[in-house]
Amino acid sequence: MPSPLQENMPKTGPLQNTGKPHILMSPPDYFTVDYAINPWMIEGSVDRDNARRQWDNLYNAITQQAGAEVHIIPAVEGLPDLVFTANAAFVHDDTAIIAHYKYKERQPEEPFCEEWFRNNGYRTVTLPEDLFFEGAGDALKWQDRVFAGYRTRTDIISHQVITRETGLPVLSMELVDNRFYHIDVCICPLYDGHFIYFPGAFDEYGLRVIEANIPESKRVPVTAEEAARFACNAVNINDTVIFNKGSDRLAEELQSRGFQVIQVDLSEFLKSGGSSKCLTLRIA
Ligand code: ARG
Repeated sequence: MPSPLQENMPKTGPLQNTGKPHILMSPPDYFTVDYAINPWMIEGSVDRDNARRQWDNLYNAITQQAGAEVHIIPAVEGLPDLVFTANAAFVHDDTAIIAHYKYKERQPEEPFCEEWFRNNGYRTVTLPEDLFFEGAGDALKWQDRVFAGYRTRTDIISHQVITRETGLPVLSMELVDNRFYHIDVCICPLYDGHFIYFPGAFDEYGLRVIEANIPESKRVPVTAEEAARFACNAVNINDTVIFNKGSDRLAEELQSRGFQVIQVDLSEFLKSGGSSKCLTLRIA
Protein backbone atom coordinates (compact mmCIF):
# COMPACT_ATOMS: atom_id res chain seq x y z
CA MET A 1 0.00 0.00 0.00
CA PRO A 2 1.49 3.37 -0.91
CA SER A 3 1.29 5.87 1.95
CA PRO A 4 -1.15 8.77 1.41
CA LEU A 5 1.94 10.93 1.07
CA GLN A 6 3.20 8.99 -1.96
CA GLU A 7 -0.26 8.83 -3.48
CA ASN A 8 -0.52 12.60 -3.39
CA MET A 9 2.97 13.32 -4.66
CA PRO A 10 2.58 14.89 -8.09
CA LYS A 11 4.38 13.12 -10.91
CA THR A 12 7.73 14.63 -11.80
CA GLY A 13 6.63 15.83 -15.23
CA PRO A 14 9.56 16.61 -17.52
CA LEU A 15 11.98 17.39 -14.68
CA GLN A 16 14.62 15.00 -13.44
CA ASN A 17 13.26 12.76 -10.68
CA THR A 18 15.38 13.63 -7.66
CA GLY A 19 12.90 12.13 -5.23
CA LYS A 20 12.20 15.65 -3.95
CA PRO A 21 9.27 17.97 -4.65
CA HIS A 22 10.18 20.68 -7.17
CA ILE A 23 9.38 24.35 -6.54
CA LEU A 24 9.86 27.38 -8.81
CA MET A 25 10.95 30.69 -7.26
CA SER A 26 12.28 34.00 -8.58
CA PRO A 27 14.64 36.18 -6.52
CA PRO A 28 13.54 39.70 -5.46
CA ASP A 29 16.42 41.51 -7.25
CA TYR A 30 13.99 44.06 -8.74
CA PHE A 31 11.17 43.66 -6.25
CA THR A 32 9.38 46.90 -5.44
CA VAL A 33 5.85 48.24 -5.18
CA ASP A 34 5.44 51.00 -7.74
CA TYR A 35 1.89 50.33 -8.86
CA ALA A 36 -1.17 49.13 -6.95
CA ILE A 37 -3.31 46.38 -8.45
CA ASN A 38 -4.64 44.93 -5.21
CA PRO A 39 -5.78 46.58 -1.96
CA TRP A 40 -2.67 45.57 0.02
CA MET A 41 -0.15 47.28 -2.25
CA ILE A 42 1.62 50.28 -0.66
CA GLU A 43 3.65 52.11 -3.29
CA GLY A 44 7.26 52.94 -2.48
CA SER A 45 7.24 51.00 0.76
CA VAL A 46 9.65 48.12 0.14
CA ASP A 47 13.03 47.75 1.85
CA ARG A 48 14.72 45.63 -0.82
CA ASP A 49 17.61 44.42 1.39
CA ASN A 50 15.12 43.22 3.96
CA ALA A 51 13.05 41.61 1.21
CA ARG A 52 16.15 39.73 0.06
CA ARG A 53 16.84 38.47 3.60
CA GLN A 54 13.23 37.38 4.01
CA TRP A 55 13.19 35.64 0.62
CA ASP A 56 16.46 33.86 1.51
CA ASN A 57 14.93 32.65 4.77
CA LEU A 58 11.94 31.26 2.87
CA TYR A 59 14.28 29.63 0.32
CA ASN A 60 16.30 28.04 3.13
CA ALA A 61 13.19 26.76 4.92
CA ILE A 62 11.99 25.17 1.67
CA THR A 63 15.29 23.60 0.67
CA GLN A 64 16.87 22.75 4.02
CA GLN A 65 13.98 22.16 6.41
CA ALA A 66 11.24 20.95 4.07
CA GLY A 67 13.66 19.17 1.70
CA ALA A 68 12.33 20.44 -1.63
CA GLU A 69 14.37 21.31 -4.69
CA VAL A 70 14.07 24.94 -5.84
CA HIS A 71 14.40 25.97 -9.50
CA ILE A 72 14.98 29.62 -10.29
CA ILE A 73 13.47 31.82 -12.95
CA PRO A 74 15.81 34.83 -13.14
CA ALA A 75 14.50 38.22 -12.04
CA VAL A 76 13.83 40.77 -14.78
CA GLU A 77 14.33 44.50 -14.28
CA GLY A 78 11.02 46.35 -14.46
CA LEU A 79 8.94 43.27 -13.53
CA PRO A 80 8.66 43.59 -9.73
CA ASP A 81 5.88 41.00 -9.34
CA LEU A 82 7.77 38.22 -11.12
CA VAL A 83 8.83 37.15 -7.59
CA PHE A 84 5.28 35.81 -7.18
CA THR A 85 5.86 32.66 -9.23
CA ALA A 86 2.60 31.10 -7.99
CA ASN A 87 0.92 33.14 -10.69
CA ALA A 88 3.23 32.10 -13.53
CA ALA A 89 1.27 29.02 -14.56
CA PHE A 90 -0.95 26.15 -13.50
CA VAL A 91 1.13 23.01 -13.76
CA HIS A 92 -0.07 19.42 -13.99
CA ASP A 93 2.28 16.60 -15.03
CA ASP A 94 4.03 17.96 -18.14
CA THR A 95 1.44 20.64 -18.94
CA ALA A 96 1.89 24.29 -17.96
CA ILE A 97 -1.05 26.61 -18.60
CA ILE A 98 0.68 29.98 -18.71
CA ALA A 99 -0.94 32.92 -16.92
CA HIS A 100 -2.55 35.74 -18.85
CA TYR A 101 -2.70 38.62 -16.38
CA LYS A 102 -5.66 40.90 -15.99
CA TYR A 103 -3.52 43.99 -15.37
CA LYS A 104 -1.16 45.21 -18.07
CA GLU A 105 1.51 45.81 -15.39
CA ARG A 106 2.02 42.04 -15.08
CA GLN A 107 1.40 40.96 -18.68
CA PRO A 108 5.08 41.41 -19.70
CA GLU A 109 5.93 38.55 -17.29
CA GLU A 110 4.05 36.08 -19.48
CA PRO A 111 6.67 35.44 -22.22
CA PHE A 112 9.46 34.93 -19.65
CA CYS A 113 7.38 32.31 -17.86
CA GLU A 114 6.32 30.60 -21.09
CA GLU A 115 9.95 30.41 -22.15
CA TRP A 116 11.06 28.94 -18.83
CA PHE A 117 8.49 26.15 -18.99
CA ARG A 118 9.17 25.43 -22.67
CA ASN A 119 12.93 25.29 -22.08
CA ASN A 120 12.38 22.89 -19.20
CA GLY A 121 10.42 20.40 -21.27
CA TYR A 122 6.84 21.36 -20.48
CA ARG A 123 4.01 21.50 -22.98
CA THR A 124 2.94 25.13 -22.65
CA VAL A 125 -0.62 26.32 -23.19
CA THR A 126 -1.26 30.03 -23.71
CA LEU A 127 -4.61 31.76 -23.50
CA PRO A 128 -6.42 34.07 -25.90
CA GLU A 129 -6.01 37.83 -25.42
CA ASP A 130 -9.44 38.27 -23.84
CA LEU A 131 -9.24 35.42 -21.28
CA PHE A 132 -7.60 36.16 -17.94
CA PHE A 133 -6.10 33.46 -15.76
CA GLU A 134 -3.54 33.91 -12.98
CA GLY A 135 -2.02 30.45 -12.67
CA ALA A 136 -1.75 28.61 -9.37
CA GLY A 137 -2.68 31.85 -7.64
CA ASP A 138 -6.22 31.00 -8.66
CA ALA A 139 -6.17 27.22 -9.12
CA LEU A 140 -5.10 24.74 -6.46
CA LYS A 141 -5.14 20.96 -6.64
CA TRP A 142 -6.73 19.04 -3.80
CA GLN A 143 -6.50 15.29 -4.32
CA ASP A 144 -8.11 14.56 -7.73
CA ARG A 145 -9.73 17.96 -8.27
CA VAL A 146 -8.96 21.65 -8.56
CA PHE A 147 -10.38 24.48 -6.46
CA ALA A 148 -10.31 27.57 -8.64
CA GLY A 149 -11.20 31.19 -7.94
CA TYR A 150 -12.66 33.75 -10.31
CA ARG A 151 -13.87 37.34 -10.58
CA THR A 152 -11.11 39.59 -9.20
CA ARG A 153 -8.30 38.38 -11.49
CA THR A 154 -9.26 35.17 -13.24
CA ASP A 155 -12.20 34.67 -15.61
CA ILE A 156 -14.41 31.69 -14.87
CA ILE A 157 -14.23 30.56 -18.53
CA SER A 158 -10.51 29.83 -18.03
CA HIS A 159 -11.51 27.04 -15.63
CA GLN A 160 -12.76 25.10 -18.66
CA VAL A 161 -9.27 25.36 -20.15
CA ILE A 162 -7.86 23.65 -17.04
CA THR A 163 -10.22 20.71 -17.52
CA ARG A 164 -9.67 20.60 -21.29
CA GLU A 165 -5.88 20.58 -20.97
CA THR A 166 -5.41 18.42 -17.85
CA GLY A 167 -8.56 16.35 -17.54
CA LEU A 168 -8.94 17.53 -13.94
CA PRO A 169 -12.41 18.53 -12.71
CA VAL A 170 -12.59 22.12 -11.45
CA LEU A 171 -14.70 23.51 -8.63
CA SER A 172 -15.25 27.18 -9.45
CA MET A 173 -15.54 29.54 -6.48
CA GLU A 174 -16.30 33.22 -6.65
CA LEU A 175 -13.94 35.44 -4.64
CA VAL A 176 -16.29 37.98 -3.06
CA ASP A 177 -13.85 40.11 -1.03
CA ASN A 178 -11.31 42.22 -2.95
CA ARG A 179 -8.69 41.77 -0.24
CA PHE A 180 -8.73 38.03 -0.98
CA TYR A 181 -8.24 38.53 -4.69
CA HIS A 182 -6.53 35.21 -5.49
CA ILE A 183 -7.78 31.86 -4.20
CA ASP A 184 -4.34 31.08 -2.75
CA VAL A 185 -4.77 33.86 -0.19
CA CYS A 186 -7.95 32.26 1.15
CA ILE A 187 -7.49 28.47 0.83
CA CYS A 188 -4.60 26.07 1.21
CA PRO A 189 -5.12 22.38 0.44
CA LEU A 190 -2.64 20.21 2.36
CA TYR A 191 -1.07 16.98 1.07
CA ASP A 192 -3.08 14.63 3.26
CA GLY A 193 -6.52 16.08 2.56
CA HIS A 194 -6.51 18.79 5.24
CA PHE A 195 -7.78 22.14 3.98
CA ILE A 196 -6.98 25.56 5.46
CA TYR A 197 -9.47 28.28 4.48
CA PHE A 198 -10.88 31.68 5.37
CA PRO A 199 -14.69 31.43 5.27
CA GLY A 200 -15.11 35.23 4.91
CA ALA A 201 -13.62 35.19 1.40
CA PHE A 202 -16.54 33.19 -0.05
CA ASP A 203 -20.26 33.46 -0.51
CA GLU A 204 -22.72 30.84 0.65
CA TYR A 205 -22.26 28.83 -2.54
CA GLY A 206 -18.47 28.77 -2.12
CA LEU A 207 -18.81 27.58 1.45
CA ARG A 208 -21.14 24.83 0.29
CA VAL A 209 -18.54 23.73 -2.25
CA ILE A 210 -16.03 23.40 0.60
CA GLU A 211 -18.51 21.59 2.83
CA ALA A 212 -19.53 19.18 0.07
CA ASN A 213 -15.94 18.26 -0.83
CA ILE A 214 -13.89 18.41 2.36
CA PRO A 215 -14.85 16.21 5.31
CA GLU A 216 -15.43 18.31 8.43
CA SER A 217 -12.57 16.61 10.28
CA LYS A 218 -10.15 17.89 7.62
CA ARG A 219 -11.33 21.51 7.50
CA VAL A 220 -9.11 24.09 9.21
CA PRO A 221 -10.84 27.50 9.16
CA VAL A 222 -8.78 30.58 10.04
CA THR A 223 -9.89 33.84 11.63
CA ALA A 224 -10.09 37.19 9.81
CA GLU A 225 -6.93 38.34 11.65
CA GLU A 226 -5.01 35.24 10.57
CA ALA A 227 -6.27 35.59 7.00
CA ALA A 228 -5.08 39.23 6.97
CA ARG A 229 -1.62 37.96 7.99
CA PHE A 230 -1.80 35.67 4.94
CA ALA A 231 -2.05 32.49 7.02
CA CYS A 232 -3.86 30.70 4.17
CA ASN A 233 -1.03 31.61 1.81
CA ALA A 234 1.01 28.68 3.07
CA VAL A 235 3.56 26.44 1.38
CA ASN A 236 2.93 22.75 2.04
CA ILE A 237 5.70 20.26 1.36
CA ASN A 238 4.91 16.80 2.71
CA ASP A 239 4.15 17.29 6.41
CA THR A 240 5.77 20.74 6.58
CA VAL A 241 3.69 23.92 6.40
CA ILE A 242 5.40 27.29 5.99
CA PHE A 243 3.59 30.62 6.40
CA ASN A 244 4.14 34.25 7.34
CA LYS A 245 4.87 34.71 11.02
CA GLY A 246 2.25 35.74 13.57
CA SER A 247 -0.35 32.98 13.50
CA ASP A 248 0.59 30.87 16.53
CA ARG A 249 -2.94 29.55 17.09
CA LEU A 250 -3.01 28.12 13.57
CA ALA A 251 0.51 26.74 14.00
CA GLU A 252 -0.57 24.88 17.14
CA GLU A 253 -3.72 23.62 15.47
CA LEU A 254 -1.68 22.21 12.57
CA GLN A 255 0.93 20.75 14.90
CA SER A 256 -1.81 18.92 16.80
CA ARG A 257 -2.81 17.39 13.45
CA GLY A 258 0.73 16.11 12.83
CA PHE A 259 2.27 18.95 10.80
CA GLN A 260 5.58 20.64 11.33
CA VAL A 261 5.07 24.40 11.05
CA ILE A 262 7.67 27.01 10.11
CA GLN A 263 6.78 30.71 10.41
CA VAL A 264 8.91 33.07 8.32
CA ASP A 265 8.74 36.88 8.45
CA LEU A 266 7.59 37.98 4.99
CA SER A 267 6.46 41.52 5.88
CA GLU A 268 8.10 43.12 2.81
CA PHE A 269 6.07 40.91 0.48
CA LEU A 270 2.81 41.56 2.33
CA LYS A 271 3.25 45.18 1.16
CA SER A 272 2.61 43.81 -2.32
CA GLY A 273 -0.27 41.56 -1.28
CA GLY A 274 1.75 38.36 -1.32
CA SER A 275 3.33 35.89 1.08
CA SER A 276 4.99 32.47 1.17
CA LYS A 277 2.75 30.53 -1.24
CA CYS A 278 2.68 33.41 -3.75
CA LEU A 279 6.48 33.32 -3.81
CA THR A 280 6.51 29.66 -4.86
CA LEU A 281 5.07 27.41 -7.52
CA ARG A 282 4.92 23.65 -7.12
CA ILE A 283 6.02 22.30 -10.50
CA ALA A 284 6.37 18.60 -9.65
N1 ARG B 1 1.42 42.24 -6.31
C1 ARG B 1 1.02 40.98 -6.84
C2 ARG B 1 -0.27 41.12 -7.63
O1 ARG B 1 -1.13 41.87 -7.21
C3 ARG B 1 0.86 39.95 -5.75
C4 ARG B 1 0.58 38.59 -6.28
C5 ARG B 1 0.34 37.58 -5.19
N2 ARG B 1 0.27 36.29 -5.74
C6 ARG B 1 -0.60 35.34 -5.37
N3 ARG B 1 -0.44 34.15 -5.87
N4 ARG B 1 -1.59 35.57 -4.55
O2 ARG B 1 -0.48 40.54 -8.67
